[in-house]
Amino acid sequence: MWTLARDCGLDLNSSYAYLIYAADFSATCRVALLGDEPVGYVLGYRPPERPSHLFVWQVGVSSRARGHGVAARMIHDLLDSLDEVEVLEATVEESNDASRALFASIAAARGGDLAWTDGVLSTDFPDEHPGEPRLEITGMRAR
Ligand SMILES: CC(C)(COP(=O)(O)OP(=O)(O)OC[C@H]1O[C@@H](n2cnc3c(N)ncnc32)[C@H](O)[C@@H]1OP(=O)(O)O)[C@@H](O)C(=O)NCCC(=O)NCCS
Repeated sequence: MWTLARDCGLDLNSSYAYLIYAADFSATCRVALLGDEPVGYVLGYRPPERPSHLFVWQVGVSSRARGHGVAARMIHDLLDSLDEVEVLEATVEESNDASRALFASIAAARGGDLAWTDGVLSTDFPDEHPGEPRLEITGMRAR
């Protein structure tokens, strides 16, 4: 996950943070393999105060595996396996068309409603990080 995050240009957490997630949050994370090679990952968790929500923190697919449904498949697999999850949350930068299309596709496939709020403002970050508008998909049905 750390290697994919780095290669995808995502915010890079420490390598130890990904190991902690792999150990303690594996039910809400996924790694996609092409043969033996990891080509995608989803880093997610259920916020303790909103246990029926799944927050997708990061999703990344290696450039050579994009456009083949890998990201959507990982997120659908999470939703299929987490019966208690009713709402999907994520934040996506305004400029990230691929990620916005991904979540719109998840909402459409499950007949859900996708709504946006301000999320994390650029002024909330201590560095030059752009704002992260927050999306919520409600009313999802099983596929
Ligand atoms: C965003 C990302 C994870 C999508 O992965 P992917 O495996 O290529 O996505 P999928 O093939 O599952 O596509 C899912 C949907 O998004 C659409 N989509 C994916 N990439 C797109 C793009 N560049 N432009 C427009 N639509 C796109 C697909 O058409 C599909 O929609 P559909 O079901 O209506 O056909 C990938 O582009 C990536 O890793 N980007 C860099 C990292 C990043 O920005 N991650 C998100 C922020 S945390």
